[in-house]
Amino acid sequence: MKAVLCKAFGPAETLVVEETTNPEAKKNEVIIDVHCAGVNFPDTLIIEGKYQFKPPFPFSPGGEAAGVVSSVGEKVSHLKVGDRVMALTGWGSFAEQVAVPSYNVMPVPKSMDFPSAAAFGMTYGTSMHALKQRANLQPGETLLVLGASGGVGLAAVEIGKAMGAKVIAAASSAEKLEVAKAAGADELINYSESNLKEEVKRLTGGQGADVIYDPVGGDLFDLAVRSIAWNGRLLVVGFASGRIPEVAVNLMLLKGAAVVGVFWGSFAQRQPQDNLANFQQLFAWHTEGKLKPLVSETFPLEKAADAINLLGQRKAVGKVVVQVR
Ligand SMILES: NC(=O)c1ccc[n+]([C@@H]2O[C@H](COP(=O)([O-])OP(=O)(O)OC[C@H]3O[C@@H](n4cnc5c(N)ncnc54)[C@H](OP(=O)(O)O)[C@@H]3O)[C@@H](O)[C@H]2O)c1
Repeated sequence: MKAVLCKAFGPAETLVVEETTNPEAKKNEVIIDVHCAGVNFPDTLIIEGKYQFKPPFPFSPGGEAAGVVSSVGEKVSHLKVGDRVMALTGWGSFAEQVAVPSYNVMPVPKSMDFPSAAAFGMTYGTSMHALKQRANLQPGETLLVLGASGGVGLAAVEIGKAMGAKVIAAASSAEKLEVAKAAGADELINYSESNLKEEVKRLTGGQGADVIYDPVGGDLFDLAVRSIAWNGRLLVVGFASGRIPEVAVNLMLLKGAAVVGVFWGSFAQRQPQDNLANFQQLFAWHTEGKLKPLVSETFPLEKAADAINLLGQRKAVGKVVVQVR
């Protein structure tokens, strides 16, 4: 099969596309004929050796896939050959086939095409878990989303609206904010041009945001901590800016607020039933038209490096997808 291969840690330009051996299903695995693979920020890190997982060389990047099951291991009971599925793979999806433990594979609803399915699992799974289990977001509360036009950020805007929150989208350019507005954001903040803390104060009548969703970290986190409401929850989702911030806990004391960690992959493994219930709700909202995953660009397998670079260079909006078939 054809696959994008990482043979040594380095920038996306060092990836190669080669013929390699097809995977075989172990007892608890399925093999997926990959149609589309979603690109996520961890793909920019894993090829550089900067992610929490360091697969043995050579490996294919690509943390999630959508496609058709082509074989199943002897212990797999809930999936069969021919099923349309989406899967969280960690790595390996930028290839014509990928082997995945069956617990990380889910049937795709009829209403969803492969590009949308490849753009759905990681971002909507993460943001749903963050807003439901970690923040306990309530209707009428104010949700501030940083990096609001990115993969997880845009999903948080849509899910926040579906949960009945007032959503303030914050991003680094007018073009990116337009994308967040089209996804339903009520208010917009351009944090390249204005002070995040002052704007949040203005838009919330001085109260601050009840829930802050932060996939960016760095300087933005420092401002966000000072923009939180009484009893607020600040969700630590990621560090796309490249800096892991620190928090002065006296600020949290003064606001009766909490800094809350979000690790969707671990949640999905530890609480599979809760994760499944989240996806049933997400699929229902998708069918009702409340969630519309935005695939802004697609690349062929040979151009997977360009797709990764779009995210690494802060140029992506919504989701970028590698079209494998
Ligand atoms: N905790 C979890 O379970 C979980 C799950 C999935 C992803 N994540 C994390 O969430 C973060 C976002 O992932 P994603 O796939 O949504 O990425 P993405 O689509 O590239 O979005 C990241 C956003 O971060 C902002 N950003 C600020 N500084 C940046 C920089 N130097 N380079 C790139 N982007 C920058 C950009 O928005 P502006 O230009 O508007 O600032 C961009 O839209 C990553 O850190 C990822 O590891 C965490």
